[in-house]
Amino acid sequence: MQLKTISDLLTQNTVIPEVEIKGWVRTFRANRFIALNDGSTINNIQCVVDFEKFDEATLKRVTTGAAIHIKGELVESQGKGQSVEIQVASLEILGDSDPETYPIQPKKHSFEFLRENAHLRTRTNTFSAVMRLRSSLSFAIHKYFNEHGFYYMHSPIITGSDAEGAGEMFKVSSLDPKNPPLTEEGKVDYTKDFFGKETNLTVSGQLEAETYAMSLGKVYTFGPTFRAENSNTSRHLAEFWMIEPEVAFMDLAGNMDLAEDFMKSVIKYILEHNREDLEFLDQRLQEEDKKKPQAERSDMSLIEKLNFVTDNHFKRVSYTEAIDILRNCKPNKKKKFKYLINEWGTDLQSEHERYLVEKHFKCPVILFDYPANIKAFYMRLNDDGKTVRAMDILFPGIGEIVGGAQREERLDILKEKMAAIDIPEEELWWYLDLRKFGTAVHSGFGLGFERLVMFATGMSNIRDVIPFPRTPQNAEF
Ligand code: 4AD
Ligand code: MG
Repeated sequence: MQLKTISDLLTQNTVIPEVEIKGWVRTFRANRFIALNDGSTINNIQCVVDFEKFDEATLKRVTTGAAIHIKGELVESQGKGQSVEIQVASLEILGDSDPETYPIQPKKHSFEFLRENAHLRTRTNTFSAVMRLRSSLSFAIHKYFNEHGFYYMHSPIITGSDAEGAGEMFKVSSLDPKNPPLTEEGKVDYTKDFFGKETNLTVSGQLEAETYAMSLGKVYTFGPTFRAENSNTSRHLAEFWMIEPEVAFMDLAGNMDLAEDFMKSVIKYILEHNREDLEFLDQRLQEEDKKKPQAERSDMSLIEKLNFVTDNHFKRVSYTEAIDILRNCKPNKKKKFKYLINEWGTDLQSEHERYLVEKHFKCPVILFDYPANIKAFYMRLNDDGKTVRAMDILFPGIGEIVGGAQREERLDILKEKMAAIDIPEEELWWYLDLRKFGTAVHSGFGLGFERLVMFATGMSNIRDVIPFPRTPQNAEF
């Protein structure tokens, strides 16, 4: 007898005399109906027990959360809600679950409570759906790049350089913090540290990916990245996953085309392959929405939103045009924004990004050609001398989901930009080498994976789309 998953069994429409299944009990009703789940699908299989055939002591141990092993016959279901069910012939308790202390009761729990029980939260419908979607999306991402001739390259996690020039990094050191070796000037002597220099957890795999683009042509990284910024928002994590393609001989327009095609393709993938999970989450959100005042309700359901992204062109707008729109918009004039837009050159906050996407354009937006001084040093300077070939993609409900650029490929200009913000040439000698030997136009972008999962699942807190979130003051599990 072959052990099948519940997902396999639920798609059968013939009677199977002998089936076998292992899973966790969701509920046990009327001493007769076990709802069993094994993680393979959002749906439970109903296992019907004839209680007269089993001893009472065993049946008492069929409690929510218990792991059990069932053998029986797969038959057409008599009841509503499922097409097949198992008539149980044998029942073995693999692992008990004390109903008094098991945290995941068969009722609605708050997401806050489930975050504190993140080790068990994937036993709920919502979190199992979210994490199956997360898994599918990562597969779709690898599939897309694989089918489009990209190589997967692994940028290092420990780095000696600061890719974003932002300085918000986690130090990596094996020195004794109580008694570090000191230089003559009394500073920590990192030459005595493990790597013989100061090192950090990477904020982005881009710079190393560029070296591979300039030899293998089309590459991408997909790995964990770390930021020690103290932003306790629903969209920031200290540890998150980023997808960063990098392509030689591609300019900013090509970069936008790639990003748009890629985003649409991975969303299409889940619409085709994760229908049940999406329908469940869609339903959940609609119920949540009903509790809100009319004005706060969303005008599209989750699945409609996903279809909307795959069916519509992303609107491409320059930073300068966006500033004009924002300067003259109602919330700016009525001082409803927390940060008012007065002049060209100010950085956009998420309230502005969301206004553009949700209120003004009502579709995904690609903003490009940002002022040089609010963007990273490696972005290519435009001929106007003040803007760079940057692009950010803004999504409804999320704000910035992608950040990218055409890279500065001219050695002299790159050196000037590094000098202006005090990045020593010695630190990035290898990055400068790419501009010395066979330099060429090249571009890439970074997609925040958790922000994509938020969009795809409709979850509103980034802590609920990564298994064990790392945020300020929180590294439990
Ligand atoms: O815009 P960012 O900082 O761009 C880069 O790091 C570039 N090196 C990417 C590249 O061109 N290869 O980050 C890229 C994306 C953001 O748009 C956002 O989606 C996500 O990464 N992101 C975060 N996600 C969660 N928590 C954080 N603290 C994030 N910071 C950025
Ligand atoms: Mg950014």
